[in-house]
Amino acid sequence: MSSASAPSRPVPRPGVQAIEAYVPGKAEAGAGVKVYKLSANETPIGPSPKAMEAFRAAAALEFYPDGSSTKLREAIGAAYGLDPARIVCGTGSDELITLTTLAFAGPGDEVLYSQYGFLVYRIATLAAGATPVVAPEKDYHSDVDALLAAVTERTRIVFLANPNNPTGTYIPAEEVRRLQRGLPPHVLLALDSAYAEYVHREDYEAGTELAESCANVVMLRTFSKIYGLASLRVGWLYGPAEVVDAVNRIRGAFNVSAPGIAAATAAVGDAAHVEAAVAHNDVWLPWLTEQLTALGLDVTPSVANFLLVHFPDEPGRTAREADAFLMQRGLILRRVDAYGLPGALRLTVGTEEANRLLVDALAAFMGRNAPAEASAGEASAGEASAGEASAGHGA
Ligand SMILES: Cc1ncc(COP(=O)(O)O)c(C=O)c1O
Repeated sequence: MSSASAPSRPVPRPGVQAIEAYVPGKAEAGAGVKVYKLSANETPIGPSPKAMEAFRAAAALEFYPDGSSTKLREAIGAAYGLDPARIVCGTGSDELITLTTLAFAGPGDEVLYSQYGFLVYRIATLAAGATPVVAPEKDYHSDVDALLAAVTERTRIVFLANPNNPTGTYIPAEEVRRLQRGLPPHVLLALDSAYAEYVHREDYEAGTELAESCANVVMLRTFSKIYGLASLRVGWLYGPAEVVDAVNRIRGAFNVSAPGIAAATAAVGDAAHVEAAVAHNDVWLPWLTEQLTALGLDVTPSVANFLLVHFPDEPGRTAREADAFLMQRGLILRRVDAYGLPGALRLTVGTEEANRLLVDALAAFMGRNAPAEASAGEASAGEASAGEASAGHGA
């Protein structure tokens, strides 16, 4: 039966072996050291208590969940003013990135994203058998001209994380719209707005309007970041009916768990908790930026809940050495070598305790005194409800 040229064992499709498996941020330090996990852009204030309650109540584990995540889609629709029929829920937005890629790109097709774009775009592209194409960034910002210049007749999808991970930078709504206008109508623009809730800039849009009005735009969102439900793996996609239909056809029939549906439904209804998370970030993101800059580190200005910090290329001061130094103190940051950024570390805004420990540790690492305490004092004084909300949660 078998032909002489057939391999002697199962061989993955072309592209699969080219995938460098996603290496998540570390979660453990040395034995006996209190851990401050600042490596995965999780929220320091935890999930909404209402989400926790709903999660605990969803304990009928012998039953399959609602395969359409109906209650959750309705709750998202109500919270964001969207049509639930145009929402697909997924096992994290990671799954929706993969499903969208599988549905719209395959061998011979190209998927485009920017230089420091979220790594999962590359993994999903290779898994689909398609070819990743990378457009250069300008000063750690996605560059619309470079993206448009990289479009070919083979391009099927453009992924744009806005703000982007790991840079934390964003591009204004008008630039995103210019990108959409410049794409051929058959090229899907996937706007990944995982950190949208943290951004308040007048010229920023998460992509809702574009996903509503353009036949070639989808928006991806997640419950893993500001909603604090990363462990449950829930994300959602909003887009045109035809794209939603295609993704629904290939997703697992029961892709979101019942506890995930229940917790996310409660979380999206708790606006006060989201506000507390934003308030916390609004205090500590600028504080960390200022303090680390004062230590002589180069910090890429971020609008999200994390910072990309560039270390000097000097023995004793490198990112690799800083990572090891911080790890000994239980402060776990994210190496970003896989993004082509070996001289930088990414850190998540943590609890007040974690943020202060981090600045002290980096001051010691850089051989400096910790920057003046005045602005830190002002920072915590400015934090009203967010301070309370953060109490009691480990980083
Ligand atoms: C830009 C971006 N998109 C998507 C995701 C995936 O989130 P989820 O936990 O929903 O899969 C992340 C997580 O780090 C991210 O940074």
